[in-house]
Amino acid sequence: MENTMENDMVRKVQHSNLTWHHTAVDKHLRRQSNGHGSFVVWLTGLSGAGKSTLGTELERHLFGLGIHTYLLDGDNLRMGMNSDLGFTERDRQENIRRAGELAKVLVDAGVVVIVALISPYQKDRQMVRQIMDDGEFIEVYVNCPLEVCAQRDPKGLYKKVKAGAIKNFTGFDSPYEEPVNPELNIQTDKVSVQQGTQQVISYLEARGLIQIPANSHDVAKPLDIATSRVKQAQEDLA
Ligand code: ADX
Repeated sequence: MENTMENDMVRKVQHSNLTWHHTAVDKHLRRQSNGHGSFVVWLTGLSGAGKSTLGTELERHLFGLGIHTYLLDGDNLRMGMNSDLGFTERDRQENIRRAGELAKVLVDAGVVVIVALISPYQKDRQMVRQIMDDGEFIEVYVNCPLEVCAQRDPKGLYKKVKAGAIKNFTGFDSPYEEPVNPELNIQTDKVSVQQGTQQVISYLEARGLIQIPANSHDVAKPLDIATSRVKQAQEDLA
């Protein structure tokens, strides 16, 4: 059975009196209209590993290539849709489930979705992979040793953890399960943000998920184009 949105929902709600409503415009039509495919790039890793940084650069880059994108960032989601959730295993599981369902809707809407969540449990990431169609879930391990993350401490959280002010913190009193077989493993203590972004872009291109115009292969170029497009869009809005 194809893992379509309908089949997925039907599986989950088979005991309810609900019927899937077919829309006139579907994912395939939207992709055709957009001129590109849609899928999820799921960035997982410790706090401070560089998920949001990589996600932001990746989005800028893809936007520069004319691709419709959306970045779902853990902290942002937790300030809105997931503001009722904490950091117990159960709450993290629900956090990932909701983000996964939202990502699925966005993929259905024809968008390339970048998700930046610690998502520490293998089974939760696997669950999201399973609700997506084949090839739509690209798991990227944003891999950085705990000591380096703690040294970077961009939000001052590791300092607080060491002072005993935060409980259930990933890598200390809450586990992080490394991806078993991720599509990509980016070692952010060894490569620059631009190199990491290039690794993802090259992978997506090699898989045929995105097409890069011949004159845009140099990583600096699409990033430049992206920056000027963002600037132009901001000016247009002003
Ligand atoms: S997840 O584990 O459920 O995937 P998520 O990515 O949404 O986590 O949120 C992690 C962010 O919440 C961290 O980047 C950090 O800013 C903040 N945070 C606050 N408390 C914790 C905690 N106990 N463990 C991890 N991150 C925390």
